[in-house]
Amino acid sequence: MDSILVTGNGPLNGQIPIAGAKNACLTLMPATLLSEEPLTLTNAPRLSDIKTMTALLQSLGAEVSSLQDGQVIAMSSHNLTSQTADYDIVRKMRASNLVLGPLLARFGQAVVSLPGGCAIGARPMDLHVEGLEALGAEIELKDGYLHARAPGGLKGAVHEMRFASVGATENIVMAATLAKGTTVLKNAAREPEIVDLVECLRKMGAQISGEGSSTIEIQGVDRLHGATHQVVTDRIELGTYMLAPAICGGEVELLGGRMALVESFAAKLDAAGVSVAETQNGLKVARKNGRVQAVDVVTEPFPGFPTDLQAQMMALMCTAEGTSVLEERIFENRFMHAPELVRMGANIEVHGGTATVTGVEALKGAPVMATDLRASVSLILAGLAAEGETTVSRVYHLDRGYEHVVRKLEGVGAKIERIKGE
Ligand code: EPZ
Repeated sequence: MDSILVTGNGPLNGQIPIAGAKNACLTLMPATLLSEEPLTLTNAPRLSDIKTMTALLQSLGAEVSSLQDGQVIAMSSHNLTSQTADYDIVRKMRASNLVLGPLLARFGQAVVSLPGGCAIGARPMDLHVEGLEALGAEIELKDGYLHARAPGGLKGAVHEMRFASVGATENIVMAATLAKGTTVLKNAAREPEIVDLVECLRKMGAQISGEGSSTIEIQGVDRLHGATHQVVTDRIELGTYMLAPAICGGEVELLGGRMALVESFAAKLDAAGVSVAETQNGLKVARKNGRVQAVDVVTEPFPGFPTDLQAQMMALMCTAEGTSVLEERIFENRFMHAPELVRMGANIEVHGGTATVTGVEALKGAPVMATDLRASVSLILAGLAAEGETTVSRVYHLDRGYEHVVRKLEGVGAKIERIKGE
């Protein structure tokens, strides 16, 4: 397995291009199942999760071609051969469950493996099931698979979700586009990736309004046609790299960044003493003056502080002046990066869903282990600011969500290299 060697070597300066959003692309790709006409995505990120979704769609009989070094994904599902998403693919990536709504809507049936737990939590699918049942689906759990049927087609309904689940919102909205009648989804998730999905579905002929708010209304149509759609900028990659100049000093411009994607995150950085300014080409980030100050963080559904940036923010708080309390309210086990940061000299105490971080003058490089996607990059950020060398192992986690990390950070002066494993 490969590892990444990082050596703390002072301020970072320059530009980092931000790719298309992994979590938008992973819901846009299954949308191809809703139509027999081609769907083409541009500005797609080059990530292993995208390859996994590609393999899943191909296993259903869809044609998926990766063009222009992976930045364009051309898909067509005019003659699917299966409506079963197998465990061996779904267990690798929870987002595979996003084929459930589209398959049910187009074919009236779907068999999708339950994803099983993952490092950060149990990640059940009860909210997906409740929403699709509200649209008339009959769903039963057998041998670890969800067997879903809608023999007479789906019917529009008014449904309020118990929690603003991103994935459940995406599955229900995609299914409702082909349901008979009107669906009103309440307490819907508001993430930019959902807005991006709706914009793509609208290009395919769907009739949807309210995206980005807590109530989304969908008028079902008989069929959807093909479209070409540009994947929205990845706000989590954006936020991750915004932390590089914050933790190391210097000034970095994130190309393609937009303040609207990271409003609450930027506000937290500002409170911590890090300036974020919109430029012609993106966002420019630099410390305002001297050491970063500790701030408290509570993760919430969008537009609140993103859970996917909690691990990275913790790395910054490890070297801030003062004590920061980070509360993780979305996932039940998302502090696995904490013990690894402690190995680097951080002062962190975890009690249940709360981590208390008391900043230290400097972290010390050490061998550490990536435990999940966002934890892996939080350790790299810590290594950039630490004295000496840090080796991050199990970087296959990283490859799921960050393209060309070494090249992007080298580009702003970081001392970082990827060490080929056996
Ligand atoms: C999406 O996951 C993202 N993944 C996650 O990003 C992100 O952390 C999460 O939303 C929250 O923002 C993709 O978009 C592919 P949820 P999702 O349904 O849809 C519970 C990353 O690092 N829940 O909003 O699975 C669930 O257990 C990944 O890129 C139920 O209880 O998130 C969790 O505690 C990690 N029942 C909470 O809700 C359900 O039916 C949020 O889950 C569904 C979810």
